[in-house]
This record gives sequence, C-alpha cells and structure tokens, in this order.
Amino acid sequence: MFGLNRARKTAAVIAAGAAAAATALLGAPTAVAAPQPIVGGSTTTTTSYPFMMQITDASQNQFCGGTLVSSTKVVTAAHCMVGETTSSVRVVGGRTYLNGTNGTVSRVSKIWINPGYTDATNGDDVAVLTLSTAMSYTPASYVSSSQTSVYAAGTTARILGWGTTSENGSSSNQLRTATVPIVSDSSCASSYGSDFVQSDMVCAGYTSGGVDTCQGDSGGPLLIGGVLAGITSWGEGCAEAGYPGVYTRLTTFSSLVTAQVNS
Ligand code: ARG
Repeated sequence: MFGLNRARKTAAVIAAGAAAAATALLGAPTAVAAPQPIVGGSTTTTTSYPFMMQITDASQNQFCGGTLVSSTKVVTAAHCMVGETTSSVRVVGGRTYLNGTNGTVSRVSKIWINPGYTDATNGDDVAVLTLSTAMSYTPASYVSSSQTSVYAAGTTARILGWGTTSENGSSSNQLRTATVPIVSDSSCASSYGSDFVQSDMVCAGYTSGGVDTCQGDSGGPLLIGGVLAGITSWGEGCAEAGYPGVYTRLTTFSSLVTAQVNS
C-alpha cells in the first residue's frame, strides 16, 4: 500500500493556509521529501487558458480545478465532489489569482458524479458540473472515445493548476502550468501495482520526478495537443522520482461526459 494522496478537498484547507491540516490530510508516510515544484513549470493566466476554472466553496476558496467544455458544463474529478452539494460549490472562470475577485462566479445547478466512482485509486474519477450562469470563456475540446492513441508513451502533456508547489507546501496564488511526458501503462503499473487501473487512468511525469501536479490541482486538465485528455486524480506524494502523477483516462469516459454535456 502506498501513502497515496487521494485526499481531495484537502486543498481547500491548504488554500486556507492551514499547514497542520496539510500534514494531516496527506497521511503520507513519506518522511522528509525535499521541496519539489509541482507544476515545476511557470506561472500563466486564465487569459492564456480561458477554459481553466477554479472550483471553490461558497466563500470562493479554491479546492480543485475544472475544465470548461461548453458554456455551462465543467469537467472535474469525482473525488473533488465527494460530500459537496449544489449549494456548497462555485465555479469561477477568468480568475488567474486565488485572491482575485474578478472573473465570473457561477453557482452549480447539477453535480453528476460517475456512478462507478468509489475512490480515486479505483478509477472512475470524473464528474461533470452544470453551471447556473453561462461562462463567456472559450471552452476546451476533449478527446473522443476512439482517440486512445493520444496516450502514446513520451507524448508531451500540459498540466495546469493552483495546487501546492511542493508536497507539503502551500497553494500557488497564480495559476501555474508545466509539461510532462506521458508514461507507459506498464511503467505506471510498476510504480503503483494494482492501484493503477489501466482502463481508467493514465500516468504522466519524468522518471526523475521534479514536475507534477499536487494537492489542489485535482480536477484540473491534462491537455494533449491542447485537447482535454486527462483529469488530475492522484499520486504518491508529488513529483517524487518513480511515482508519476495519475490522471483520469478521459477516452474511457468521453461518451459519459458527452451525455452530460448534452443533457
Ligand atoms: N489528489 C490531489 C488533489 O486532490 C491531486 C494529487 C495529484 N498528485 C500527483 N502526485 N500528481 O488535488
């Protein structure tokens, strides 16, 4: 068993600045990991990635990411929505900074959680939110179920989020992005054993670690060729050598997502 960070809304706590809670939620046995940049990449803006949504609580404290796929539909992780209700969640578009007050804030009129979802390490980690207020930002397109070849090992993928910039660190006030290579399924299975469910997950990261998503990035996009192909889901620690980030394999759930987008 790994000390997997399948924690979810934990990030809300981190965003609120509770370092102690961060330790509690990670529950990782990983004693002392050197500070490792998650999105070891660089700061960016929602102007550059207009489909990048903050998923927040009612007080607009961000705890997960999401991807706008139509004017009123947002794809995120199922594990982000556990325990949430339509009144507890907001989606914020066009806001690059966590402490910003700009952009569009929408309430959520429906939360669809993949009915198969139990735990991120069992797969099925996808949810679709229906917005009460349409977003005027350009949505992302997402993979169709037949596009399984996008996950060829070594393919460059882009990750985005406001999550913690080190394993036990604090969230980034500004949106960040990085690129990571897709990892082969066999290699990911070697890292994670039976927790890696090949049909439902895809891994990305460098063998040596150093660049990864982390707590608070969950629900956000993994883009391949600019198209939504994965959802930030889980990993052992963050950016650790030998433990790539694990993302929802969106081709598997594309039809389910489309049914929600069209509903
Ligand atoms: N579960 C985390 C969240 O809720 C995301 C963890 C991603 N971890 C990783 N090593 N890529 O924000």
